[in-house]
Amino acid sequence: MDDLIRRLPKAELHLHIEGSLEPELMFELAGRNGIALPYNSVDDVKAAYQFTNLQSFLDIYYQAAAVLQTEQDFFDLTWAYLKRAAEDNVRHAEIFFDPQTHTARGIDFETVLEGITSALQAGERELGISSRLIMCFLRHLSAKEAMTTLQQALPHRQQIVAVGLDSSEVGHPPSKFREVFDEARRQGFLTVAHAGEEGPPEYIREALDLLHAARIDHGVRCMENADLVSRLRDEQIPLTVCPLSNVRLCVFERIEDHPLRRMLEAGLCVTVNSDDPAYFGGYIGENFAAVTRGLELSREQVLQLARNSFAAAFVDEKRKAELI
Ligand code: ADE
Ligand code: ZN
Repeated sequence: MDDLIRRLPKAELHLHIEGSLEPELMFELAGRNGIALPYNSVDDVKAAYQFTNLQSFLDIYYQAAAVLQTEQDFFDLTWAYLKRAAEDNVRHAEIFFDPQTHTARGIDFETVLEGITSALQAGERELGISSRLIMCFLRHLSAKEAMTTLQQALPHRQQIVAVGLDSSEVGHPPSKFREVFDEARRQGFLTVAHAGEEGPPEYIREALDLLHAARIDHGVRCMENADLVSRLRDEQIPLTVCPLSNVRLCVFERIEDHPLRRMLEAGLCVTVNSDDPAYFGGYIGENFAAVTRGLELSREQVLQLARNSFAAAFVDEKRKAELI
């Protein structure tokens, strides 16, 4: 099965590029940019990755992002992810970036975007991985700040397929960003949103009804509401599930407790993704392996997960046919 998982062509649809910053690269960039880290070694960094919930992770994750300063840094970060993804036979990747994490530190929006997009182009050319970019708004910041970020993105409309919503979920419902998402859709962006990771099923409903999300990121708490499950199944709304993330952030205690198999058996369009692989102990292949083993998935269920990833991708039918 491990061999099948590795060789299976797949699309990754939920990956925060800042969350692919491995401790080794963190040290390299800190050295290059003269930034002091609160860690003495790579082992020291890894030992700090003991999370109790989403916020305990975000605090460390935003701090680490400070090593990313130049276009070359963003290129190196993205290129390292793509090379690792190629080993898992990722054929297509839809990548989140959080411009506000960087612009708040005085880094230009264009520095971030150019570094990432030039690596994505190299990934297409040299690794055969096609990609799309999704710009996330930080939901712990204001809707006004999100609107400013949307305006910054408008000259680069062609390089960004969708907008999303991430960061601290509870207390920051999708409704807070309704006007920003209305404007994003008017400007031609697709929309997605993290919802139902730590937040209640009601946030998933809001993401669908108010933000018109084409996919729900995580969405695992939908399982607490039977009507919502029926709706997600009937409308085949894709859910970009991240099993190792959910365990590391204590959404579920053990991989054996994860609802992914029940979600598949309920007819939901579930995909498997890595979220922030440098922090959560595994890339997409390791996420597939963990649920396959922990939930005793059948070969057919594993194949279904990979099929779903292409069905849910933001590419046209012709490209989907080429990818599979
Ligand atoms: N930003 C990076 N990873 C995230 C996650 N799992 N949930 C919300 N925001 C995030
Ligand atoms: Zn995420």
